[in-house]
Amino acid sequence: MSQFDAKAATWDADPVKVARAAAVAEAIRSRVPLSRQTRAMEFGSGTGLLSFFLQPGVGQLTLMDSSEGMLAVAERKIVDGRFDNMRTLRLDLAADPLPSQRFNLIYSLMTAHHVSDTARLLQDLNALLEPGGQLCIADLDAEDGSFHGVGFDGHNGFERAHLGRLAQEAGFTEVAFSTVFRMTRGEGTSARNYPIFMMYCRKP
Ligand SMILES: C[S@@+](CC[C@H](N)C(=O)[O-])C[C@H]1O[C@@H](n2cnc3c(N)ncnc32)[C@H](O)[C@@H]1O
Repeated sequence: MSQFDAKAATWDADPVKVARAAAVAEAIRSRVPLSRQTRAMEFGSGTGLLSFFLQPGVGQLTLMDSSEGMLAVAERKIVDGRFDNMRTLRLDLAADPLPSQRFNLIYSLMTAHHVSDTARLLQDLNALLEPGGQLCIADLDAEDGSFHGVGFDGHNGFERAHLGRLAQEAGFTEVAFSTVFRMTRGEGTSARNYPIFMMYCRKP
């Protein structure tokens, strides 16, 4: 069982995660015109919080994640809400072969920092997009490691300039960043602020 399988059942009960997904959905909507022609994929969807905000008005939506537990929760919500334009896909993007399907929009929230090889991740996401396809990655700005704490082996956020360069090297253009949410951890004088950016870019 992955750490995310164990967290799946209570994931949606955290109002900060819901507010974060709502803010990122708004940022995506204001950047990318969504329509019935949109064939979207969310990389590291978890329970689909972000995708359920974007679902109205989108043609097809694939929720991709490596965690069976997260996708089981997402699947339940799809069935209960009768969202016939949504489906789940269990896949570890860092280890499994890429699916054959291609998309015209890929987005992701708080997942890229869990993937060790960021350059390879961006190349894979580029390969999964059709020409003209758009990518939106929302994640933590570079931080000192306090967000996850001791024992975390992913990235402690990202330097925007570095991530933007990797995106260009992976073949993306029109790279642009904005701040889309701020998380707070701790209280009083030990409270810390963790901004979350969204990187927008396009495959030529
Ligand atoms: C921090 S959670 C974010 C979930 C969701 N995006 C949200 O904001 O509520 C990260 C998610 O990425 C998934 N994940 C991590 N590495 C992955 C990989 N290599 N391939 C697919 N999914 C991955 C995890 O299973 C988890 O559901």
